[in-house]
Amino acid sequence: MNGKRPRIAVIGSTNVDFCSYVARLPQAGETIGNGVFMQANGGKGANQAVAAARLGGDVSFVTSIGTDSIGDELLNHFGNEGIDCSAVLRNPDVSTGIALIVIDKKGENIITVNPGANAMLTCERIAAVKELIAGVDAVVMQAEIPYSSVKCAAQIAHDAGVLVIYNPAPVCDVDDEMMALTDVMILNQTEAAIISGSENTAEAAQRLLKRGVKNVVITLGSKGAYFTCANGTSATIPSFKVKAIDTVGAGDTFCGAFAVAYARRKAVDLESLRFATAAAAISVTRNGAQPSIPSIEETLSFISHHNELTDKK
Ligand code: ATP
Ligand code: RIB
Repeated sequence: MNGKRPRIAVIGSTNVDFCSYVARLPQAGETIGNGVFMQANGGKGANQAVAAARLGGDVSFVTSIGTDSIGDELLNHFGNEGIDCSAVLRNPDVSTGIALIVIDKKGENIITVNPGANAMLTCERIAAVKELIAGVDAVVMQAEIPYSSVKCAAQIAHDAGVLVIYNPAPVCDVDDEMMALTDVMILNQTEAAIISGSENTAEAAQRLLKRGVKNVVITLGSKGAYFTCANGTSATIPSFKVKAIDTVGAGDTFCGAFAVAYARRKAVDLESLRFATAAAAISVTRNGAQPSIPSIEETLSFISHHNELTDKK
């Protein structure tokens, strides 16, 4: 992981997460008491931007937040993370995005998202930052901003020869045009099954390749990740064994970490995927989305420690 910091543009959502830690998830109509509350910075776009910055990327974040006090605090926070905020849009008429999250003792969660200002990141706003997008090594996008904006950004990046990493989460319809603009699609098993129409991981990945995606990475939770690409190569990358307490943001940490390694190495190889798997494993051992994202130093030392243990066996 030595060398120049790759330039990454993350184009996506910002939320504040209101988290409630409870013994078990409620059923419809049920109230669960004795929760422990935590407020944390979140949003799939912001989580991936922070992950990419902490894990060695030179990150610009294209997002939309309110002019509310939460928006002020977030802008300050992104600056402290070393993220370029020149393309952050402020909206006076809507609030910053808010997610309500309930997490149980096993680390399982349910989430509802109130997009607020995220819905205002229109194609027009994307076109206004065309030069920024065309000037990076890779763009990273998710599905908490309008789909039309994701496609506009993917087209600009593709035309400029910039790598396109797309994480269609929360799950959404993805058309063939967007598939063909995607260099790497990263998605979890549920998203892969819904988008491809197959519950079988390898089959789902093959169907996505057939629709035009160049590389597919399906994350498998505690089982790691599955990778395949058009030339027929495929691999399963096992996860690192850790005690998971809160998986919120694990997929985002994976995407942010992977983006840095991929933009640097210009290949989806085992080293990039192992780096992403390690960063995500660390993140599940801590509470909250952004508070749980590790630094590059912590991630590299975690990998060396595991390599030493494996060598001793
Ligand atoms: P989330 O929505 O909870 O943020 P996700 O559903 O998008 O995550 P997952 O497949 O659950 O994605 O997890 C992403 C990655 O995080 C996995 O590929 C794996 O590397 C790591 N991971 C998740 N859970 C665990 C775990 N229990 N132990 C170790 N690593 C884990
Ligand atoms: O992927 C986790 C994120 O999803 C949370 O931070 C929450 O804001 C929701 O967007």
